[in-house]
Amino acid sequence: MEKVLITGGDGLVGRHLTDKLQANGYEVAVLSRSEKMNKEISYFIWDVEHQTIDDSALENVNYIIHLAGAGVADKNWTAQRKREIISSRVDSAKLIYDQLPENHKVKAIVSASGAGYYGAVTSDRIFTEQDDSANDFLGDVCMQWETAIDTYKEKNIRTVKLRTGLVLSSFGGGLERMAKPFKMGFGAAIGSGKQYLPWIHIDDLCEMYLFALQNDTVKGAYNAVAPNHITNREFSEALAKCLAKKIRLPNVPGFILNLYLGEMAVLLLKGSRVSSQKIQDQGFKFHYTEIEKALENSLKK
Ligand SMILES: NC(=O)c1ccc[n+]([C@@H]2O[C@H](COP(=O)([O-])OP(=O)(O)OC[C@H]3O[C@@H](n4cnc5c(N)ncnc54)[C@H](OP(=O)(O)O)[C@@H]3O)[C@@H](O)[C@H]2O)c1
Repeated sequence: MEKVLITGGDGLVGRHLTDKLQANGYEVAVLSRSEKMNKEISYFIWDVEHQTIDDSALENVNYIIHLAGAGVADKNWTAQRKREIISSRVDSAKLIYDQLPENHKVKAIVSASGAGYYGAVTSDRIFTEQDDSANDFLGDVCMQWETAIDTYKEKNIRTVKLRTGLVLSSFGGGLERMAKPFKMGFGAAIGSGKQYLPWIHIDDLCEMYLFALQNDTVKGAYNAVAPNHITNREFSEALAKCLAKKIRLPNVPGFILNLYLGEMAVLLLKGSRVSSQKIQDQGFKFHYTEIEKALENSLKK
């Protein structure tokens, strides 16, 4: 049985992915900051800040999936929070790299990255994996995160980076927060409503991690976003429809979000189109291509 070590494996994506990997015959181990109870998973403790890791965490590992990271949308972006967002992704990747023994058995590392790689901009341009990282906070986070992953090539490990859009899931995450005002009847589009919202259903994302593990030709960066591009207005309308609600209010003005969220408001106010052609050309097939179907599935409990 091949063994997959998932960093941050107890989060939204990690839990779903663990089930998928186990169903496909993999043994799963999780690196976490705290002890957890689950008989079918071995948990190992690490402390990224102090650069310590359980001695046996890397034993017999065949694949690493790097999901760990302080939530980008969980707290306002103070200077300290920004450092934490970067360090929890970059220093964590370095910690594992430094601890890998000479005779390691790791064949590939597949890491999360973000569609924010291309920056907080609203335009009709369709970004592809060939584009450079943006010169803003999220662009910089993703660039540093991916650079840390690319160092693994020096240890003959195949590297894959999945630049992920908003993950739609029935188990929480951004969708749960976005759906709340709609459920209460005062949902509305945000800002101009014209900003694009790259998204992916959690089943497709976890299928893509599995696809990346199992296909040796999958290498480098891939956009993990559904093929259909939607604006914030279209997303809001689909969300309202799915919850059998009507949008009665005007768009939430951008300045209110700027006041309340500061720099982090760009997560809601900006967004471009991002292409999923590269992973599709590699043979990956999306199950959820339409937002309505993805929302319908994600909002059912
Ligand atoms: N969900 C999305 O919409 C989305 C979109 C784009 C990119 N991504 C990226 O995909 C990855 C997985 O997303 P997710 O939604 O599953 O995230 P999540 O639910 O927030 O889980 C991330 C995990 O990272 C660990 N973590 C948190 N803060 C940490 C810190 N300071 N140091 C080390 N570990 C820390 C936590 O595990 P422990 O508490 O067990 O240590 C947590 O469960 C993340 O890197 C995220 O940025 C997600």
